[in-house]
Amino acid sequence: MYRKACASGMQLIRRSVPTSRCLATSSSSSSSSQNQEQQQQPPPALRPRANAMTDEIIRVDHAGELGADRIYAGQMAILGNGPMGKTIEHMWEQEKCHRKQFEQLIQQHRVRPTIMTPIWNVAAFALGAGTALLGEKAAMACTVAVETVIVEHYNDQLRQIMESPNPDKELLETITKFRDEEQEHHDTGIDCGAEQAPFYKAMTEVIKFGCKTAIAISKKI
Ligand SMILES: [Fe+2]
Ligand SMILES: [Fe+2]
Repeated sequence: MYRKACASGMQLIRRSVPTSRCLATSSSSSSSSQNQEQQQQPPPALRPRANAMTDEIIRVDHAGELGADRIYAGQMAILGNGPMGKTIEHMWEQEKCHRKQFEQLIQQHRVRPTIMTPIWNVAAFALGAGTALLGEKAAMACTVAVETVIVEHYNDQLRQIMESPNPDKELLETITKFRDEEQEHHDTGIDCGAEQAPFYKAMTEVIKFGCKTAIAISKKI
């Protein structure tokens, strides 16, 4: 039952969350004409230099979305041609948009990216590909674990921004939209049989711990 839904991608629209459109000024498409368009676009307009809280939020979210992009890239490398390919690709496209948006915010607010970027790049791809090699359900278990942590993390940030003296409305809107899409990814993972993966509990706990550690490190350095 879940296989049928997952293979057809039907579960992706069941919560009526609109298909992601990139909030960033350029699209995530890799077609050559759009790449040319991207190259011709001026850099995003500078905005006020980020305060300590915004600086931390943008740096850690940029790292997280880069990691998510690489995790789904790893999953696609192994499972892209299989029955789960379309489902994973849909989530990957959304993660590319998330990453692009935070790349734009990093430039606009002149935030320093985490020095861990090259390590997260490799580690995240290895996590995505490694779990995918264990099978589709293990890949979905990885998705559920990562997205659980990210949804909690974004909810914490939304509270933090709303409690600040001058909430950044644009950042609130961006994080709210991405939080909803991460929740959709989590639910897709469950629908696609994550909980039936071998050693589901142990695997997800280890991955959650890894994600929380990466978040704590990326906030600061
Ligand atoms: Fe994301
Ligand atoms: Fe996600």
